[in-house]
Amino acid sequence: MKVPHIKIKPPGPKAKEMIERDQRYTAPAYGRVYPLAVKEGRGMVIEDLDGNLFLDFTAGIAVTATGHSHPQVVRAIEEQARKFLHFCGSDFYYQPMVDLVEKLSRITPGSFPKKVFLTNSGTEAIEAALKLARYTTRRNHIVAFHGSFHGRTMGSLSLTASRSSHRAYFSPLIPDIHHIAYGYCHRCPYHLTYGSCEIECVRSIEKVLFRHEVAPQEVAAIFIEPIQGEGGYVVPPREYLEMISDLCKRHGILLVADEIQTGFGRTGKMFACEHWGIEPDIICVAKGIASGLPLGAMIAREDISTWTRGTHGSTFGGNPVACAAALATIDLLEKGLVKNAAEVGTYLKDRLAELKKQFAVIDDVRGLGLMIGVELARQGSNRVPAPDVRDQVLRRAFEKGLLLLGCGESTIRFCPPLIVSRDEAETAVEVFASTLKELTA
Ligand SMILES: Cc1ncc(COP(=O)(O)O)c(C=O)c1O
Repeated sequence: MKVPHIKIKPPGPKAKEMIERDQRYTAPAYGRVYPLAVKEGRGMVIEDLDGNLFLDFTAGIAVTATGHSHPQVVRAIEEQARKFLHFCGSDFYYQPMVDLVEKLSRITPGSFPKKVFLTNSGTEAIEAALKLARYTTRRNHIVAFHGSFHGRTMGSLSLTASRSSHRAYFSPLIPDIHHIAYGYCHRCPYHLTYGSCEIECVRSIEKVLFRHEVAPQEVAAIFIEPIQGEGGYVVPPREYLEMISDLCKRHGILLVADEIQTGFGRTGKMFACEHWGIEPDIICVAKGIASGLPLGAMIAREDISTWTRGTHGSTFGGNPVACAAALATIDLLEKGLVKNAAEVGTYLKDRLAELKKQFAVIDDVRGLGLMIGVELARQGSNRVPAPDVRDQVLRRAFEKGLLLLGCGESTIRFCPPLIVSRDEAETAVEVFASTLKELTA
């Protein structure tokens, strides 16, 4: 059957009933995007409780890298589940964990030896990096960026600065964190133009932050997303990450790359840092690593992994079933899905860029691989963001059977599973274009 296939306007009666029950019991903190009630997922397709078929361009928020329930991943999970479900990798040894840590240390950027700490989520990988950075450098201060998203637990939340609502009323957060502007050329925080700006956003770290606020010898680490995710799918200028990496080296500061969203093939290379040839001291990963099973990792240079026995640990981190899913996922990525992300991603971005000529509401199309952002702005305005239009587009696309997500103030993200075909990308563009036509006519 051709997908999308909408039998009944979503949410249908079964979805409505489930959502009502959900609302009675689940924490109101969840920020549900639109009323999608999932019954099943297969590859690129999500079926809801009322039998509607949706084309998934969210991948469960950039997670299901190999598509929904890929048979090879499911087989690996079943085989491991039959053997044993848990035995606490912090305290004992098992095969899927050792296979995975070895694999991760080999495939992450940097030819130096590395040590891997496994977690259950992205935020825990960031917490581990935060603790290791302070422990190993004996420095307290950390630099992070406006627009960044690193997680919601108290340490990672202290680094997160994409929306103040994430942080409101949770203070005091952890001290000695400094936030600076990110290289967001489309809306340059310094109102400069790329080409003549001399990358002021990086230069100001030494000129302003280190001069007036914190001495560089007190800074343990700079935490950075190579492409900002939640902050708006922002790709920094070409020389940006290399300049930050050089600055870190000059001052003995650790560079921590948060590849939780950009990692595992999403940008058309296994890790986004590879686009710029940088080798961070620490890399944090999660999301796409295990096709949907909860797993994260912090991969650090061996010579900075100085923490001693019992300094950090986790009961569930590195769960054997999740490790087995990760090994199957990485195998599929290496055998073709990263390449597919690069190829179909280029096609999709080109097609979305063509829509920019047709729809004045599209202000920018950017991204790498299958991490593509379409920023909207109010028509006829001087590029004033249009979050209300963005939200209407997400809702209407959902009703038409295309699952999309927002990010940043006014951006729509296209982050499908990496199995997406050119035809499916074309279908998504058609549904997106017809949605824009309806809403902006
Ligand atoms: C770049 C980045 N870092 C960290 C996180 C937090 O990951 P988790 O939700 O698994 O804790 C996210 C989640 O969206 C993310 O996109």
